[in-house]
Amino acid sequence: MYLNPMRTLFALFLCLFLLNAQAQTTADRLPNVVILATGGTIAGTGATSTTTVGYTAATVGVDALIKAVPELQKVARVSGEQVFQIASENMGNEQWLVLAKRVNALLAKPEVDGIVITHGTDTLEETAYFLDLVVKSKKPVVLVGSMRPSTAMSADGPINLYNAVITAGSQDAVGKGVLVVLNDQINAARDVTKTNTVTTDTFKTPELGMLGYVIGGQPHFYRASLRKHTVDTEFDVTNLNALPQVDIAYSYANVGPVAVNALVAAGAKGIVHAGVGDGSLPAKVRPALSSAREKGVVIVRSSRVGQGIVARNGEANDDQLDFVVSDTLNPQKARILLMLALTRTTSTRDIQRMFGTY
Ligand code: SIN
Repeated sequence: MYLNPMRTLFALFLCLFLLNAQAQTTADRLPNVVILATGGTIAGTGATSTTTVGYTAATVGVDALIKAVPELQKVARVSGEQVFQIASENMGNEQWLVLAKRVNALLAKPEVDGIVITHGTDTLEETAYFLDLVVKSKKPVVLVGSMRPSTAMSADGPINLYNAVITAGSQDAVGKGVLVVLNDQINAARDVTKTNTVTTDTFKTPELGMLGYVIGGQPHFYRASLRKHTVDTEFDVTNLNALPQVDIAYSYANVGPVAVNALVAAGAKGIVHAGVGDGSLPAKVRPALSSAREKGVVIVRSSRVGQGIVARNGEANDDQLDFVVSDTLNPQKARILLMLALTRTTSTRDIQRMFGTY
């Protein structure tokens, strides 16, 4: 068979052109996801591949994290920023304000489709809930971490990061509030909590349930949190440079008033009481909390149990004591909502409304 060389060459060029155009279109369709790195075990290194405890958190930089997962380039156009390089037990109000402002600035750019925040798992749920209340965009914001350092055998960081980037770039995640993605599961910032000190399936939303899975390169959602978040909250960090001091007093058998009194003396504007059971107030703690309230400190009754509602006027007469109840928020999340509430009001009636809303 005779092949016309000119025609063959032309056909070859046409094929190459079409293939290139198709690749270009696919690349153009990839979402822009910014990875904000803050440290944690996902950026940690251990002495050996079997070191899964006793490693050093927050040693690997964001560029190395991205480079370690080349598959990311197939699902998004990723760029990285090193916001902090810390273990998450050192995360605090100051860092949250910096992070929230950066997230809001990035999401205001039309070319940014979503954000992934790499974070230590110890306080990940707190950062996630803070952002859930102050991010002013419907675009996806996904927090991710890992339980094993990057050097460990079967490290969970790479797959978690991959799944987080997929979720942050997905239209399905728009408007769902801040999300937490680890262990192939998607959880809502408000409800998720760390439940195990070491295992990779530590993040759970017991009772209320996770939102979905990331499987086969895409998120699958089955539910959404009904509590207001992001664009629907009344909180705004734009002009905030600090947050009011709010601390947690933990109760236990034989507890006395020492911690509560010390917190008041140290200038707390709010105290979350991690009570026993349904937020019960031990007899030696109640007067200290009551006297703190008389001095203007806002008291929120929460529970150390970890599940369930703390019922208003249940185990204490909240109306009489002028206390607020935490609804289903655990003490560490109640602290975050109380801090933000105190940036708006000191009215306990209004603050109770917020605990029923967010
Ligand atoms: C941390 O929270 O920074 C250390 C622990 C972890 O990331 O799992």
